Amino acid sequence: MCGIVGFTGNVPAVPILLDGLERLEYRGYDSAGVAVVSPGRGLQIQKCKGRLQALRDRLEALPPLEGTVGIGHTRWATHGEPNDVNSHPHVSQSGRVAIVHNGIIENYVEIKDFLLHKGVKFRSDTDSEVIAQLLDYYFDSCADPLDAVYAVLSRLEGAYALGILCADRPDMLIAARKDAPLLLGYGDKESFIASDATAIIAHTRDVAYMADGEVAVLTRAGIQVFDEYRRPIEKEHHFIEWDVSAAEKGGYAHFMFKEIMEQPEALRQTISPRLKDGQVVFEELNMTAEDVGRFKRIFIVACGSSYHVGMVGKYNLEKLMRAPVEVALASEFRYSAPLVDENTLVIVISQSGETLDTMAALREAKSLGARILSIVNVVGSSIARESDDVLYTWAGPEIAVATTKAYSTQLVLLTMLGLWMGRCLGRVADGEYAAVVSELQVLPDKLGEILSGTDIYQYLASLYFNQDCIFYIGRNLDYALGLEGSLKLKEISYIHSESYAAGELKHGTISLIEPGTLVMSLATYDPLLDKAVSNIVEVKSRGAEVVALTTEDHRQRLEAIASHVLTIPRTHPALQPNLGVVPLQLFAYYIALHRGCDIDKPKNLAKSVTVE
Ligand code: G6P
Repeated sequence: MCGIVGFTGNVPAVPILLDGLERLEYRGYDSAGVAVVSPGRGLQIQKCKGRLQALRDRLEALPPLEGTVGIGHTRWATHGEPNDVNSHPHVSQSGRVAIVHNGIIENYVEIKDFLLHKGVKFRSDTDSEVIAQLLDYYFDSCADPLDAVYAVLSRLEGAYALGILCADRPDMLIAARKDAPLLLGYGDKESFIASDATAIIAHTRDVAYMADGEVAVLTRAGIQVFDEYRRPIEKEHHFIEWDVSAAEKGGYAHFMFKEIMEQPEALRQTISPRLKDGQVVFEELNMTAEDVGRFKRIFIVACGSSYHVGMVGKYNLEKLMRAPVEVALASEFRYSAPLVDENTLVIVISQSGETLDTMAALREAKSLGARILSIVNVVGSSIARESDDVLYTWAGPEIAVATTKAYSTQLVLLTMLGLWMGRCLGRVADGEYAAVVSELQVLPDKLGEILSGTDIYQYLASLYFNQDCIFYIGRNLDYALGLEGSLKLKEISYIHSESYAAGELKHGTISLIEPGTLVMSLATYDPLLDKAVSNIVEVKSRGAEVVALTTEDHRQRLEAIASHVLTIPRTHPALQPNLGVVPLQLFAYYIALHRGCDIDKPKNLAKSVTVE
């Protein structure tokens, strides 16, 4: 989704803005632009469709944009096709105001009509341009730019993170936020705004997260923040724990591959602080065992891969807690008049903590009285802040659009939560509890073993990268795992792929199997191995090529029937998907590599989906 960066300081703004935008590229975008303001020269803007390099080339061919105050933007088109004119920053008709915007202005048609009647001429097809034009309109009647900003914000419906420059105030950058992420960065005689910390981490690790309704004024002297009623407020500062190297490729060809390789360490960071003397301990939870006993319903709500974590979680939590758990896509849940009350626990899962549908589902559940526990990677994100309890995954920054280490850490944390809640309810046998805990301790090492040899995945990719369609089949936990494997593949390789519960094959899917069709048969869930074997035989007899994924101890059995066998170390069944996902990530990665795809920035996809 759109990325915003802004700067005020004593050095030229453009290089800092371009560097920040480059670090936000991972969010997904189709055009980019920058604006600076300086005394005597007013606003200077450059923007264009395409990758950031196109903007850099354009800037290099022109006299430098001079100014030490500026805003930059990467746009992911929603209203209006990706082209130069629709790119941000948008400038008002008189040239007095430039803005960058992330989010959607839902009542833009009404505002545009109002301004058209006043004679304002619009240049773009975007919803965002109305903000620049409306600001300009209010500037005529407001003595102070902040008056105009508050007047405009009171008329906007929808979501926005905004960076605003005024030609008349070359010393100042104004920021505002509602339902779209924006943070403030405090440097030495310089200040920043950014959609996320990666954009500014090279300059400062001292940040504050803007809350809905807040407006910030950034000057060389510092940052002043006001609430929605324009009362000055003091922001709580946060120190970003990770440094700039965590958000760089560090010698790897792709962020995705680096992040796959970082999984053992990410798991260690997530698991270790929560295992004490053989017990799962969540010191960060306010929730008590009595609270857990009161829940009559439990929902897991998320989008994308985080939803797939929920799918695995349903199987695991129900087994560990002996209580029903429902999993819902956030985009469906929020409009389904969910049966939620004060005896409901809603577990919200989100890497970014900013996914709009997930956020809306959280608010819907909260308004109905539910208790919200979120599993989030980005510290201080909106979902984290609005939850009653937060469990952070300590995966570090995840840059590749296709999630890997965040998925893995979410998955293990959810299983640990199930174990903890199961114990609160007195429903996990001691032996079972100890078995899971003991496997949690060695899980990072076992995952590391899988990563120590990648030749087999490269070889399989070389055989199958030209497939038109690849099916994933499995039962129970393997079915939930297949959903993620299939999504990984289609996200980055653009091969059509579907994941089916293997028991459903006979109800339709098997008609799609032709000689040469590739079926990834997931057979890591021990109790249903015989069923998995039958399904392999079924598809093989219709000519399918089968790559089977199983545990080391079943290699021989599956080699007798599958075309190729991938193996993973054995662990407790509840944790087996944490190992099973790794070969599927690597397979998808190497297939995409063979096909020459833009692995870290797949077409049309965004890392953080902050629009509906
Ligand atoms: C996007 C990302 C996915 C992610 C999903 C949900 O589609 O590409 O990797 O799973 O959003 O994002 P969240 O940040 O809420 O986990």
